[in-house]
Amino acid sequence: MKFFIDTANLDQIKEAQDMGILDGVTTNPSLMAKEGIKGEEKVKQHYIDICNIVDGDVSAEVIATDYEGIIKEGEALAALHEQIVVKVPMIKEGVKAIKYFSSKGIRTNCTLIFSAGQALLAAKAGATYISPFLGRLDDISTDGLNLIDEIRTIFDNYLFETEILAASIRHPMHIIECAKIGADVMTGPLSAITALLNHPLTDIGLEKFLADHAKNE
Ligand code: G3P
Repeated sequence: MKFFIDTANLDQIKEAQDMGILDGVTTNPSLMAKEGIKGEEKVKQHYIDICNIVDGDVSAEVIATDYEGIIKEGEALAALHEQIVVKVPMIKEGVKAIKYFSSKGIRTNCTLIFSAGQALLAAKAGATYISPFLGRLDDISTDGLNLIDEIRTIFDNYLFETEILAASIRHPMHIIECAKIGADVMTGPLSAITALLNHPLTDIGLEKFLADHAKNE
């Protein structure tokens, strides 16, 4: 499973990249705003800065919601860097734009997926990735992992090449469960990724190894 980090914070992206486990980055307008990145030129430069830190794909989201606007913005974003994947919302105009981008060899990530039907439409349009938001489904008492499972079954039934990018990951167990289901990618905060490191028996075991080693010095 590929590990993407869901942030526009350059320090966190560097930290994940330095760990040697990072395969890409996802951003969204909320995450860009959180970092105080405003204005078209600053936003574009920030995407380039992210691409220069990480080796893999970097999702950059369009703001437009009309077909022509999505195409114009998406083409400009894709031209910024070869690692850019154009993130397009799951709306009718977005599906149409994904079909266009696909025909032009521009890679896409269809975002705000909350149902298997939406995932199927985006895959048929030729999306490179689809992003089901499992944490936000959990937030409304709906099983987000079940959606990942349904989409996995559908994509496997028809050999869709579209990758399932499990998004809105909130904690390490989401990552483990997505890996068990067979999500192609997960994107989450650095805290959920580094939480995978932790086990009290590792800490106790290491402490004992070092103490025993010190006795022999
Ligand atoms: O970037 C999309 C998704 O991962 C958002 O996550 O935590 O805002 O629901 P969250």
